[in-house]
Amino acid sequence: MSWISAQQLSDMPEISPEEVSQALDLAADLVIHNLPDFTDRFPKAYSENGFYAATGNVDWTTGFWTGEVWLAYEHTGKTQLLEAGNVQMESFLERIEKKQDVETHDLGFLYSPSCVAGYKLTGSETGRRAALMAAKELTGRYHEKGEFIQAWGPLNAPDNYRLIIDCLLNLPLLYWTSEETGQDRYRQVAEKHIHTALSHVIREDFSTWHTFFFDRKTGAPDHGATCQGYRDGSAWARGQAWGVYGTAIGYRYTRRKEYIPVFEGVTDYFLRHLPEDLVPFWDLEFGDGDEQPRDSSSASIAACGMLEMAKYLDRERALYYRGIAKRLIKALADHYAVKDPKDSNGLVLHSTYSNHSPYNTCNHYGVDECNIWGDYFYMEALTRLHKDWQVYW
Ligand code: GLY
Repeated sequence: MSWISAQQLSDMPEISPEEVSQALDLAADLVIHNLPDFTDRFPKAYSENGFYAATGNVDWTTGFWTGEVWLAYEHTGKTQLLEAGNVQMESFLERIEKKQDVETHDLGFLYSPSCVAGYKLTGSETGRRAALMAAKELTGRYHEKGEFIQAWGPLNAPDNYRLIIDCLLNLPLLYWTSEETGQDRYRQVAEKHIHTALSHVIREDFSTWHTFFFDRKTGAPDHGATCQGYRDGSAWARGQAWGVYGTAIGYRYTRRKEYIPVFEGVTDYFLRHLPEDLVPFWDLEFGDGDEQPRDSSSASIAACGMLEMAKYLDRERALYYRGIAKRLIKALADHYAVKDPKDSNGLVLHSTYSNHSPYNTCNHYGVDECNIWGDYFYMEALTRLHKDWQVYW
């Protein structure tokens, strides 16, 4: 197997402003096309044969669809998108009021791109109320022993006394809540979690653990383990991408200078393990020549992280990371994005949700399909390249 060289990477073409506009127009049109199926219902987390089935407001992923609706609304100003976003925020309010399927740290993924976004864009009180309730629920998962937010399962479950790298994206909900309410505890919890996560999930070579366990009695760090990566010790592509965006988010909110080299290390590891077409295989252990599925969503997530972090870096490094993000997004727009709704009701093909291997602990589904966060972060990256975007996170 092989990966792209730094020279090959810098020789790849960047997406032009005209291509960004066209790709965003197309994505917004596709979102509008799919609204009749997905206004009262939501797309499932992953497609099957290229098509998402409709589900209720369950699982950790429905906020991404509402996020796409808001991005399409920002881009087009079309009333039907505003109306759909409002209907969906009611559903998110009901979900948190009735505590349906909220026993998870993914409340940030659920409520930031849906309800915080809706509040920021339209001043919706429904969105605000729902997001504040979700933030309160999320802090309930914080463990003083170990200073982290527990990812999955019932609180204190012995087999789940752990954090996962993905959680860094759940924390902006807490920062937003502190700003809205003036209550500092939300910010403090977020800050502690960021610090704990960045201290333990990043290995010496800047590859990352997907999950990290703590001792339930003492809170002492115990061991790293993968769930969705190929094996313990490899770098799950999406986990590494969550690390890229997560460290950018960590810096955005804390401004701790020591997170800058962490961002650079994690990002450079990701970039050194790209195949020739710039769209990673599902685990960074694999490269060109391996018969393995891709995870296109990890390219979009990493691009968003680089575009966010570029805001805080010196001019030269900012240009470097923006340039890389433009190359990744061009690769997706040219070769992975859906062009015709007859082919798929998603936006980006060839993503991988959960690929079981002999060495990991995950179930097997959504392999080489669209997934809804891949669609969302592709649109977010295009929006970031199109204008000075006011972030939902
Ligand atoms: N946050 C779960 C995943 O990325 O699959």
